[in-house]
Amino acid sequence: MKPGLLSGKKGIIFGALDANSIAWKVAEKAYEYGAELILSNAPIAIRKGDIYKLAEKTNSEVIAADVTRVDEIEELFRQSRDIFSGNMDFILHSVGMSPNVRKGLHYTELDYNYMAKTLDISAISLHKILSVAYRTDAINEWGSVLALSYIAAQRTFSTYNDMAQAKAMLESICRSYGYHYGKKRKVRVNSVSQSPTVTSAGTGVKGFDSFYSFSNCMSPLGNSTSEDCANFCVAMFSDLTRKVTMQNIFHDGGYSTMGISDKLIDDCFVCQGDCHEKNYEL
Ligand SMILES: NC(=O)c1ccc[n+]([C@@H]2O[C@H](COP(=O)([O-])OP(=O)(O)OC[C@H]3O[C@@H](n4cnc5c(N)ncnc54)[C@H](O)[C@@H]3O)[C@@H](O)[C@H]2O)c1
Repeated sequence: MKPGLLSGKKGIIFGALDANSIAWKVAEKAYEYGAELILSNAPIAIRKGDIYKLAEKTNSEVIAADVTRVDEIEELFRQSRDIFSGNMDFILHSVGMSPNVRKGLHYTELDYNYMAKTLDISAISLHKILSVAYRTDAINEWGSVLALSYIAAQRTFSTYNDMAQAKAMLESICRSYGYHYGKKRKVRVNSVSQSPTVTSAGTGVKGFDSFYSFSNCMSPLGNSTSEDCANFCVAMFSDLTRKVTMQNIFHDGGYSTMGISDKLIDDCFVCQGDCHEKNYEL
Protein backbone atom coordinates (compact mmCIF):
# COMPACT_ATOMS: atom_id res chain seq x y z
CA MET A 1 0.00 0.00 0.00
CA LYS A 2 1.20 3.54 -0.86
CA PRO A 3 1.40 6.40 1.65
CA GLY A 4 -2.08 7.47 2.55
CA LEU A 5 -3.31 10.38 0.46
CA LEU A 6 -6.75 8.80 0.98
CA SER A 7 -6.17 7.19 4.35
CA GLY A 8 -9.23 7.45 6.58
CA LYS A 9 -11.41 8.15 3.53
CA LYS A 10 -14.30 5.92 2.52
CA GLY A 11 -16.07 5.72 -0.79
CA ILE A 12 -18.40 3.91 -3.15
CA ILE A 13 -17.15 2.97 -6.61
CA PHE A 14 -19.94 2.34 -9.15
CA GLY A 15 -19.21 0.50 -12.41
CA ALA A 16 -16.32 -1.98 -12.12
CA LEU A 17 -17.35 -4.73 -14.56
CA ASP A 18 -14.02 -6.37 -15.36
CA ALA A 19 -10.29 -5.67 -15.17
CA ASN A 20 -10.53 -3.29 -18.17
CA SER A 21 -13.14 -1.06 -16.53
CA ILE A 22 -11.97 2.42 -15.60
CA ALA A 23 -13.74 1.96 -12.24
CA TRP A 24 -11.65 -1.17 -11.61
CA LYS A 25 -8.43 0.80 -11.93
CA VAL A 26 -9.80 3.62 -9.79
CA ALA A 27 -10.72 1.13 -7.05
CA GLU A 28 -7.23 -0.44 -7.13
CA LYS A 29 -5.58 2.96 -6.98
CA ALA A 30 -7.84 4.38 -4.25
CA TYR A 31 -7.15 1.29 -2.16
CA GLU A 32 -3.39 1.64 -2.74
CA TYR A 33 -3.62 5.19 -1.39
CA GLY A 34 -5.39 4.03 1.76
CA ALA A 35 -9.14 4.35 1.05
CA GLU A 36 -11.80 1.96 2.33
CA LEU A 37 -14.20 0.99 -0.45
CA ILE A 38 -17.58 -0.45 -1.29
CA LEU A 39 -18.01 -1.70 -4.86
CA SER A 40 -21.39 -1.51 -6.56
CA ASN A 41 -22.75 -2.55 -9.92
CA ALA A 42 -26.01 -3.70 -11.51
CA PRO A 43 -27.16 -7.15 -10.29
CA ILE A 44 -26.58 -8.65 -13.77
CA ALA A 45 -22.98 -7.36 -13.83
CA ILE A 46 -22.32 -8.73 -10.38
CA ARG A 47 -23.56 -12.15 -11.48
CA LYS A 48 -20.74 -12.12 -14.04
CA GLY A 49 -18.52 -12.55 -10.99
CA ASP A 50 -15.30 -10.66 -11.81
CA ILE A 51 -16.05 -7.94 -9.26
CA TYR A 52 -15.39 -10.38 -6.40
CA LYS A 53 -11.76 -10.64 -7.53
CA LEU A 54 -11.49 -6.86 -7.20
CA ALA A 55 -13.25 -7.00 -3.84
CA GLU A 56 -10.71 -9.51 -2.58
CA LYS A 57 -7.80 -7.45 -3.88
CA THR A 58 -9.11 -4.24 -2.30
CA ASN A 59 -10.61 -5.77 0.85
CA SER A 60 -14.01 -4.35 -0.13
CA GLU A 61 -17.65 -5.33 0.17
CA VAL A 62 -19.79 -5.74 -2.95
CA ILE A 63 -23.37 -4.42 -2.93
CA ALA A 64 -25.65 -4.69 -5.96
CA ALA A 65 -27.71 -1.69 -7.09
CA ASP A 66 -29.32 -0.81 -10.39
CA VAL A 67 -28.55 2.93 -10.54
CA THR A 68 -31.90 3.67 -12.17
CA ARG A 69 -33.69 2.42 -9.02
CA VAL A 70 -33.87 4.93 -6.17
CA ASP A 71 -34.98 2.21 -3.71
CA GLU A 72 -31.84 0.18 -4.52
CA ILE A 73 -29.58 3.22 -4.13
CA GLU A 74 -31.21 3.95 -0.76
CA GLU A 75 -30.58 0.38 0.38
CA LEU A 76 -26.97 0.56 -0.84
CA PHE A 77 -26.42 3.77 1.15
CA ARG A 78 -28.09 2.27 4.24
CA GLN A 79 -25.78 -0.76 4.12
CA SER A 80 -22.74 1.41 3.39
CA ARG A 81 -23.41 3.52 6.46
CA ASP A 82 -23.35 0.32 8.55
CA ILE A 83 -20.18 -1.02 6.92
CA PHE A 84 -18.36 2.33 7.15
CA SER A 85 -19.78 3.02 10.62
CA GLY A 86 -20.82 6.43 9.32
CA ASN A 87 -20.65 8.65 6.28
CA MET A 88 -18.52 8.37 3.16
CA ASP A 89 -16.07 10.83 1.58
CA PHE A 90 -16.23 10.10 -2.12
CA ILE A 91 -18.24 8.50 -4.90
CA LEU A 92 -17.21 7.47 -8.41
CA HIS A 93 -20.01 7.27 -11.00
CA SER A 94 -18.48 5.18 -13.78
CA VAL A 95 -21.67 4.00 -15.42
CA GLY A 96 -22.90 4.17 -18.99
CA MET A 97 -25.06 2.18 -21.36
CA SER A 98 -27.12 2.93 -24.46
CA PRO A 99 -29.58 0.34 -25.78
CA ASN A 100 -29.58 2.26 -29.10
CA VAL A 101 -25.80 1.71 -29.37
CA ARG A 102 -26.17 -1.91 -28.28
CA LYS A 103 -28.81 -2.57 -30.96
CA GLY A 104 -26.82 -0.70 -33.61
CA LEU A 105 -29.57 1.85 -34.34
CA HIS A 106 -28.50 4.89 -36.36
CA TYR A 107 -28.70 8.30 -34.67
CA THR A 108 -31.31 9.45 -37.18
CA GLU A 109 -33.58 6.53 -36.33
CA LEU A 110 -33.44 6.25 -32.56
CA ASP A 111 -35.87 4.25 -30.51
CA TYR A 112 -37.11 6.79 -27.94
CA ASN A 113 -37.83 4.25 -25.24
CA TYR A 114 -34.21 3.17 -25.58
CA MET A 115 -33.10 6.80 -25.55
CA ALA A 116 -34.97 7.37 -22.27
CA LYS A 117 -33.11 4.36 -20.87
CA THR A 118 -29.76 5.71 -22.10
CA LEU A 119 -30.39 9.00 -20.29
CA ASP A 120 -31.67 7.28 -17.15
CA ILE A 121 -28.74 4.84 -16.83
CA SER A 122 -25.95 7.14 -18.00
CA ALA A 123 -26.95 10.57 -16.63
CA ILE A 124 -30.10 10.79 -14.48
CA SER A 125 -28.64 8.00 -12.30
CA LEU A 126 -26.06 10.54 -11.08
CA HIS A 127 -28.89 12.82 -10.01
CA LYS A 128 -30.56 9.89 -8.21
CA ILE A 129 -27.33 8.98 -6.39
CA LEU A 130 -26.70 12.60 -5.41
CA SER A 131 -30.25 13.14 -4.25
CA VAL A 132 -30.19 10.05 -2.00
CA ALA A 133 -26.84 11.21 -0.60
CA TYR A 134 -28.11 14.78 -0.11
CA ARG A 135 -31.38 13.70 1.54
CA THR A 136 -29.71 11.22 3.90
CA ASP A 137 -26.67 13.44 4.49
CA ALA A 138 -24.42 10.53 3.51
CA ILE A 139 -21.28 12.43 2.41
CA ASN A 140 -18.88 14.17 4.80
CA GLU A 141 -17.96 17.84 4.41
CA TRP A 142 -15.44 18.41 1.60
CA GLY A 143 -16.45 15.06 0.11
CA SER A 144 -15.89 14.55 -3.63
CA VAL A 145 -18.23 13.07 -6.25
CA LEU A 146 -16.84 12.30 -9.72
CA ALA A 147 -18.61 11.17 -12.88
CA LEU A 148 -16.85 9.99 -16.03
CA SER A 149 -17.66 11.82 -19.23
CA TYR A 150 -16.52 12.12 -22.85
CA ILE A 151 -15.90 15.09 -25.17
CA ALA A 152 -18.88 14.04 -27.32
CA ALA A 153 -20.83 16.14 -24.79
CA GLN A 154 -19.42 19.25 -26.53
CA ARG A 155 -18.51 18.06 -30.04
CA THR A 156 -20.08 15.76 -32.60
CA PHE A 157 -18.65 12.27 -32.88
CA SER A 158 -20.67 10.75 -35.69
CA THR A 159 -21.21 7.30 -34.14
CA TYR A 160 -21.39 8.19 -30.43
CA ASN A 161 -25.15 8.25 -30.84
CA ASP A 162 -27.45 9.20 -27.93
CA MET A 163 -24.58 8.80 -25.45
CA ALA A 164 -23.62 12.34 -26.53
CA GLN A 165 -26.87 13.68 -25.04
CA ALA A 166 -26.33 11.54 -21.95
CA LYS A 167 -22.85 12.98 -21.39
CA ALA A 168 -24.08 16.57 -21.91
CA MET A 169 -26.77 15.95 -19.31
CA LEU A 170 -24.32 14.24 -16.94
CA GLU A 171 -21.98 17.23 -17.00
CA SER A 172 -24.90 19.60 -16.50
CA ILE A 173 -26.06 17.62 -13.44
CA CYS A 174 -22.54 18.00 -11.99
CA ARG A 175 -22.80 21.77 -12.34
CA SER A 176 -26.33 22.07 -10.96
CA TYR A 177 -25.93 19.61 -8.08
CA GLY A 178 -22.45 20.92 -7.37
CA TYR A 179 -24.01 24.27 -6.50
CA HIS A 180 -26.64 22.87 -4.14
CA TYR A 181 -24.38 20.30 -2.46
CA GLY A 182 -21.52 22.76 -2.14
CA LYS A 183 -23.79 25.25 -0.44
CA LYS A 184 -25.32 22.70 1.90
CA ARG A 185 -22.30 20.60 2.88
CA LYS A 186 -19.20 21.71 0.94
CA VAL A 187 -19.45 18.55 -1.16
CA ARG A 188 -17.74 18.83 -4.55
CA VAL A 189 -19.22 17.46 -7.76
CA ASN A 190 -17.17 17.25 -10.97
CA SER A 191 -16.97 15.29 -14.21
CA VAL A 192 -13.76 13.93 -15.73
CA SER A 193 -13.77 13.90 -19.53
CA GLN A 194 -11.56 10.93 -20.31
CA SER A 195 -9.74 9.89 -23.52
CA PRO A 196 -11.06 6.89 -25.46
CA THR A 197 -10.10 3.87 -23.35
CA VAL A 198 -10.25 0.17 -24.26
CA THR A 199 -13.12 -1.14 -22.11
CA SER A 200 -16.37 -3.00 -22.60
CA ALA A 201 -18.46 0.21 -22.89
CA GLY A 202 -15.80 2.02 -24.95
CA THR A 203 -15.30 -0.64 -27.60
CA GLY A 204 -19.09 -1.04 -27.91
CA VAL A 205 -19.19 2.31 -29.75
CA LYS A 206 -18.97 1.90 -33.54
CA GLY A 207 -15.64 3.16 -34.87
CA PHE A 208 -13.94 3.06 -31.47
CA ASP A 209 -10.53 2.24 -33.02
CA SER A 210 -10.66 5.45 -35.06
CA PHE A 211 -11.72 7.53 -32.03
CA TYR A 212 -8.79 6.03 -30.15
CA SER A 213 -6.09 6.49 -32.80
CA PHE A 214 -7.28 9.94 -33.94
CA SER A 215 -7.13 11.42 -30.44
CA ASN A 216 -3.87 9.62 -29.74
CA CYS A 217 -2.29 11.24 -32.82
CA MET A 218 -3.83 14.62 -32.03
CA SER A 219 -2.84 14.89 -28.35
CA PRO A 220 0.66 16.13 -27.51
CA LEU A 221 0.75 13.76 -24.52
CA GLY A 222 -1.16 10.91 -26.19
CA ASN A 223 -4.37 9.39 -24.83
CA SER A 224 -4.69 9.01 -21.10
CA THR A 225 -4.98 5.40 -19.99
CA SER A 226 -7.37 4.08 -17.37
CA GLU A 227 -4.42 4.00 -14.97
CA ASP A 228 -3.76 7.71 -15.66
CA CYS A 229 -7.46 8.35 -15.07
CA ALA A 230 -7.33 6.44 -11.78
CA ASN A 231 -4.40 8.57 -10.56
CA PHE A 232 -6.33 11.71 -11.41
CA CYS A 233 -9.45 10.46 -9.61
CA VAL A 234 -7.37 9.79 -6.47
CA ALA A 235 -6.15 13.40 -6.61
CA MET A 236 -9.74 14.60 -7.04
CA PHE A 237 -10.94 12.51 -4.07
CA SER A 238 -8.14 13.86 -1.89
CA ASP A 239 -8.04 17.01 0.23
CA LEU A 240 -5.52 18.55 -2.21
CA THR A 241 -8.32 19.53 -4.61
CA ARG A 242 -10.82 20.93 -2.11
CA LYS A 243 -11.83 24.02 -4.04
CA VAL A 244 -12.49 22.29 -7.37
CA THR A 245 -16.19 21.88 -7.97
CA MET A 246 -18.85 22.14 -10.74
CA GLN A 247 -16.16 21.54 -13.39
CA ASN A 248 -15.85 19.29 -16.39
CA ILE A 249 -12.13 18.50 -16.41
CA PHE A 250 -10.60 17.23 -19.63
CA HIS A 251 -8.23 14.40 -18.83
CA ASP A 252 -7.17 13.69 -22.38
CA GLY A 253 -3.48 14.47 -23.00
CA GLY A 254 -4.39 17.87 -24.48
CA TYR A 255 -6.76 16.57 -27.19
CA SER A 256 -9.66 18.91 -26.36
CA THR A 257 -7.59 22.03 -27.09
CA MET A 258 -6.04 20.84 -30.36
CA GLY A 259 -6.97 21.78 -33.93
CA ILE A 260 -4.45 19.71 -35.89
CA SER A 261 -1.11 18.13 -34.97
CA ASP A 262 2.17 17.44 -36.82
CA LYS A 263 1.40 13.75 -36.54
CA LEU A 264 -1.85 14.13 -38.45
CA ILE A 265 -0.29 16.45 -41.05
CA ASP A 266 2.68 14.14 -41.63
CA ASP A 267 1.26 10.66 -41.31
CA CYS A 268 -2.46 10.36 -41.23
CA PHE A 269 -4.05 12.90 -43.55
CA VAL A 270 -5.28 10.73 -46.42
CA CYS A 271 -8.16 12.47 -48.19
CA GLN A 272 -6.09 15.22 -49.96
CA GLY A 273 -8.91 17.66 -49.26
CA ASP A 274 -11.36 16.39 -51.86
CA CYS A 275 -13.65 14.16 -49.78
CA HIS A 276 -16.70 16.22 -50.69
CA GLU A 277 -15.94 16.37 -54.41
CA LYS A 278 -15.41 12.62 -54.49
CA ASN A 279 -18.58 12.19 -52.42
CA TYR A 280 -16.85 10.06 -49.82
CA GLU A 281 -18.92 8.96 -46.87
CA LEU A 282 -17.90 11.47 -44.14
N1 LIG B 1 -14.04 3.68 -22.41
C1 LIG B 1 -14.01 4.89 -22.92
O1 LIG B 1 -13.49 5.14 -24.01
C2 LIG B 1 -14.58 6.03 -22.12
C3 LIG B 1 -14.18 7.36 -22.42
C4 LIG B 1 -14.76 8.40 -21.69
C5 LIG B 1 -15.70 8.14 -20.69
N2 LIG B 1 -16.05 6.82 -20.44
C6 LIG B 1 -17.07 6.58 -19.41
O2 LIG B 1 -16.49 5.86 -18.35
C7 LIG B 1 -17.55 5.20 -17.65
C8 LIG B 1 -17.13 3.75 -17.40
O3 LIG B 1 -17.11 3.04 -18.61
P1 LIG B 1 -15.96 2.00 -19.00
O4 LIG B 1 -15.39 2.48 -20.27
O5 LIG B 1 -15.08 1.72 -17.85
O6 LIG B 1 -16.80 0.69 -19.40
P2 LIG B 1 -17.43 -0.49 -18.52
O7 LIG B 1 -18.32 -1.22 -19.47
O8 LIG B 1 -16.36 -1.27 -17.87
O9 LIG B 1 -18.30 0.25 -17.41
C9 LIG B 1 -19.66 0.62 -17.57
C10 LIG B 1 -20.36 0.14 -16.31
O10 LIG B 1 -21.73 0.60 -16.24
C11 LIG B 1 -22.41 -0.41 -15.52
N3 LIG B 1 -23.87 -0.29 -15.65
C12 LIG B 1 -24.61 -0.34 -16.80
N4 LIG B 1 -25.92 -0.24 -16.50
C13 LIG B 1 -26.01 -0.12 -15.14
C14 LIG B 1 -27.09 0.01 -14.23
N5 LIG B 1 -28.37 0.07 -14.65
N6 LIG B 1 -26.83 0.08 -12.89
C15 LIG B 1 -25.54 0.05 -12.45
N7 LIG B 1 -24.47 -0.06 -13.27
C16 LIG B 1 -24.70 -0.15 -14.59
C17 LIG B 1 -21.90 -1.70 -16.19
O11 LIG B 1 -22.23 -2.86 -15.49
C18 LIG B 1 -20.41 -1.40 -16.22
O12 LIG B 1 -19.78 -1.83 -15.04
C19 LIG B 1 -18.80 5.35 -18.50
O13 LIG B 1 -19.56 6.45 -18.01
C20 LIG B 1 -18.22 5.69 -19.86
O14 LIG B 1 -19.14 6.37 -20.69
C21 LIG B 1 -15.50 5.79 -21.11
